[in-house]
Amino acid sequence: MGEDHGSPGRPVFYVFPTWANQLRKVLVGGALAGIVFVCILLWGGFSPRTLAVGYAPKQPIPYSHRLHVGELGMDCRYCHNTVETAARAAIPPVATCMNCHASVKTESAVLEPLRQAAKDGTSIRWVRVHDLPNFVYFDHSAHLTAGIGCVSCHGRVDRMDVVRQEKPLSMGWCLDCHRAPEAQLRPHDRITDLAWQPPGDPVEAGAELARIHGVAPSTDCSTCHR
Ligand code: HEC
Ligand code: HEC
Ligand code: HEC
Ligand code: HEC
Ligand code: HEC
Repeated sequence: MGEDHGSPGRPVFYVFPTWANQLRKVLVGGALAGIVFVCILLWGGFSPRTLAVGYAPKQPIPYSHRLHVGELGMDCRYCHNTVETAARAAIPPVATCMNCHASVKTESAVLEPLRQAAKDGTSIRWVRVHDLPNFVYFDHSAHLTAGIGCVSCHGRVDRMDVVRQEKPLSMGWCLDCHRAPEAQLRPHDRITDLAWQPPGDPVEAGAELARIHGVAPSTDCSTCHR
């Protein structure tokens, strides 16, 4: 019988010292945790909510980045004001829009839900466009501080009437840049300038910036899965 293996009185021949048993438990436990971890990741990765390039949901108000950024010249940080300091980029509250729309286009029918929300003190239920699975950790501020501009990950938002997902947001896409970020680096005062191009060779200019600012993205699993 296997169960009474090691019960008193029976001669049991130990090949390994007893601490090896403890070690084995730890190793088996670790391996199981690892398998569970990978299963959770796989399950998340293949669930239907996966990210698709071109996804551009209809929004409750036809707010246009092309108009406000491309034509009126507003900076991203006027509205997404936490993007440089926090993991998430804030979506502006109704009050931010009302800074102008309390006096601009006050008769516009498409702005009626905005005026109503301002009156009731409610918020607009914007539909999320970009949405990584919960098992992935992402941080805007780390990228902007390193000198990666919005355009590298979101494309020419200043030309979009409706925001659409431009990049796959897949693990391979993240890693491609983490392995070789040079061509994507820019001076800090250009991170929201979507039209900016490096004056010379992008890799050379970026390598210089990476050296000055000590930019070296990690590819450890725990950087993005924690
Ligand atoms: C006047 C305010 C305003 C400005 C300025 C602005 N945005 Fe937005 N942005 C919004 C609002 C409101 C939404 C949510 C509705 C939508 O998706 O269109 C949004 C959504 C987004 C999204 C999609 C968020 C999601 O759900 O995944 C991205 C990306 C984005 N903005 C990038 C930018 C960039 C880059 C700039 C600067 C070039 C910028 N925005 C400037 C108001 C603004
Ligand atoms: C800095 C001022 C300013 C801010 C802030 C601003 N807008 Fe505007 N918005 C304008 C101007 C100016 C126009 C267009 C005027 C024109 O077409 O003559 C406009 C036009 C619009 C229109 C089109 C209205 C129509 O009838 O065609 C919508 C919709 C709109 N804005 C939504 C928003 C939303 C939502 C926000 C907040 C996320 C916002 N705006 C923030 C200045 C602003
Ligand atoms: C390194 C790539 C990268 C850069 C650079 C970047 N974003 Fe994002 N952005 C993302 C990803 C990935 C998401 C989805 C995050 C999630 O689902 O957790 C996102 C989401 C957003 C959202 C939705 C709210 C949120 O935080 O989930 C807004 C708004 C946004 N970005 C605006 C901006 C603006 C404005 C800039 C430049 C100032 C910028 N992003 C720069 C990759 C980037
Ligand atoms: C265009 C280039 C680029 C892309 C795309 C990119 N990253 Fe990064 N990432 C960087 C750089 C540069 C840094 C900063 C490295 C440094 O400071 O040394 C960084 C840092 C990070 C950090 C570290 C933050 C911290 O707290 O230290 C995380 C987490 C991260 N990236 C996650 C992601 C994820 C998840 C994706 C894909 C959804 C992604 N990144 C896509 C360039 C990129
Ligand atoms: C720079 C960020 C980053 C790093 C580093 C990273 N991952 Fe990921 N990983 C992601 C993102 C983003 C996704 C989600 C992809 C999607 O939804 O399509 C993901 C998804 C996964 C998945 C789900 C299956 C899939 O491909 O969608 C597994 C498994 C996984 N990662 C394992 C790992 C392992 C193991 C490591 C270390 C060798 C690692 N990851 C390192 C960003 C990263």
